[in-house]
Amino acid sequence: MAASATSSPSKAEAVRTMFTHIARRYDLMNSLMTGGRHHAWRRKAAESAAGAPGGPVLDLATGTADLAIAVRARTPGRFVAGADFSEGMLRVGRAKLRERRVARLQLLVADAQALPFRDGAFACVMSAFLLRNLDGLERGLAEMRRVTIPGGRVITLDIVRPAQPLWGAVFGAYFNHVVPAIGALVAGNRQAYTYLPQSVDRFVTPDELAELMEKVGLRDITYQRLGLGTIALHVGIA
Ligand SMILES: C[S@@+](CC[C@H](N)C(=O)[O-])C[C@H]1O[C@@H](n2cnc3c(N)ncnc32)[C@H](O)[C@@H]1O
Repeated sequence: MAASATSSPSKAEAVRTMFTHIARRYDLMNSLMTGGRHHAWRRKAAESAAGAPGGPVLDLATGTADLAIAVRARTPGRFVAGADFSEGMLRVGRAKLRERRVARLQLLVADAQALPFRDGAFACVMSAFLLRNLDGLERGLAEMRRVTIPGGRVITLDIVRPAQPLWGAVFGAYFNHVVPAIGALVAGNRQAYTYLPQSVDRFVTPDELAELMEKVGLRDITYQRLGLGTIALHVGIA
């Protein structure tokens, strides 16, 4: 997938508006769609972040802050920042932090394609379920690498098409038909949960993502599939 010099304002704006609309039902939808498994995937990513050199961690496209909270829980000594361009999602995240009295975790507004951080500001930069939403995937990955210290970790978690064709067909049927129906019923937004399977269909394979990570200057890239092969957790060294 080609990089673009800047993100397309129309796509970025449509994505931001969509997440702002579903923000209050986002967590519930995740739990319903995944049978609660999404927390385990984030814990796995947080486990990988614990292996990064000492220093702050950025959870990019933090949304309602679940990954940032998982990182704080796994590594209580680290400062964690969560950035997202949807104020609506961050508002839900902030309420969660207050309710759970989470400290040393700051949420802020930022665009993943033009991060307001200096080079090497973080020991680890992570994202969960962001990459499919970017029109400039390569640019987004390059920004993640840029703000990571040399030797630090870039970690991404995203939904991918299963490698096994038969299971892929079952997953496709669930994702294309059942998920939009749940989205209409629970989040009152069929469109957002129709966009979700479409974005997975259009997304790169785990091997292609690893190649792009290498292209932007990351090394020693590894990935593993989770969630019956539907989730890819990539780790690269900056
Ligand atoms: C599927 S949600 C994932 C939220 C969270 N990471 C999680 O694990 O639940 C995608 C998030 O990416 C954010 N996002 C999409 N494009 C973005 C961009 N260009 N810059 C910052 N945030 C972006 C959306 O606002 C949304 O909160």
